[in-house]
Amino acid sequence: ARLWGVVPAAGVGQRMGAACPKQYLPLAGATVIEHSVQALLDHPRIERVVVALQANDERAARLPLLSNPRVLRAQGGAERCDSVLSALSALQKFAYDEDWVLVHDAARPCVSAADIAALVARTLESGLGAVLAQPVLDTLKQVDVEGRVTTTVDRQQFWRAQTPQMFRFAELRSALQRALAQGQLITDEASAMEWAGYPVQVVEGSASNIKITRPGDLELADYYLQQIAQ
Ligand code: CTP
Ligand code: MG
Repeated sequence: ARLWGVVPAAGVGQRMGAACPKQYLPLAGATVIEHSVQALLDHPRIERVVVALQANDERAARLPLLSNPRVLRAQGGAERCDSVLSALSALQKFAYDEDWVLVHDAARPCVSAADIAALVARTLESGLGAVLAQPVLDTLKQVDVEGRVTTTVDRQQFWRAQTPQMFRFAELRSALQRALAQGQLITDEASAMEWAGYPVQVVEGSASNIKITRPGDLELADYYLQQIAQ
């Protein structure tokens, strides 16, 4: 089976509140999206990467990386999962059902080659879909609407999901389509796969694989990218 990349990059970056969508903000000599797409392109087994973009996205048109012959474009949708589904449709003419797809947020520019390699190795070895994730380090409180703690939960059971998330092409596409049609809340690929009944594994990733979300995250990302480069 072959490997493909999908990068949802059609968000508006509301929480960042910048003058442009956060994926186009400058970061360590490039833009956020270029680091994220390049991380997938750098993996030796990933054939091509489909990037889901807003319609008539002029900023994307100006990025040399998006003219790379291994980069394909798709039109993004209203929600992240719509953007991912659109990218998967664009892959339809290249990918076989049993091929693997790595879905990676445009907003996660600091993912390391080692973490992607670990995710790919574990997934190919087990044959089961998997996501990079981090164990929760803080004590977790369940809180009611008045802001009062109802209980402290066992944090050993909780992990924070990151991307890439790696699943078989046809299984992911159909799980996303069915979950959406049923009105399920789908915040990542894994949630659609879980809902469809597939086992999903976590592969421990790095704390540096942050999602650029709010002002201040860019400085942190810049720091992490310098660490990775050393
Ligand atoms: N995304 C997308 N299509 C959407 C919404 C989000 O492709 N309709 C992408 C974003 O571009 C981002 C990733 O999904 O790379 C993760 O989403 P998020 O961090 O929520 O980005 P935004 O939706 O842009 O940010 P915000 O929620 O603050 O508006
Ligand atoms: Mg969002």
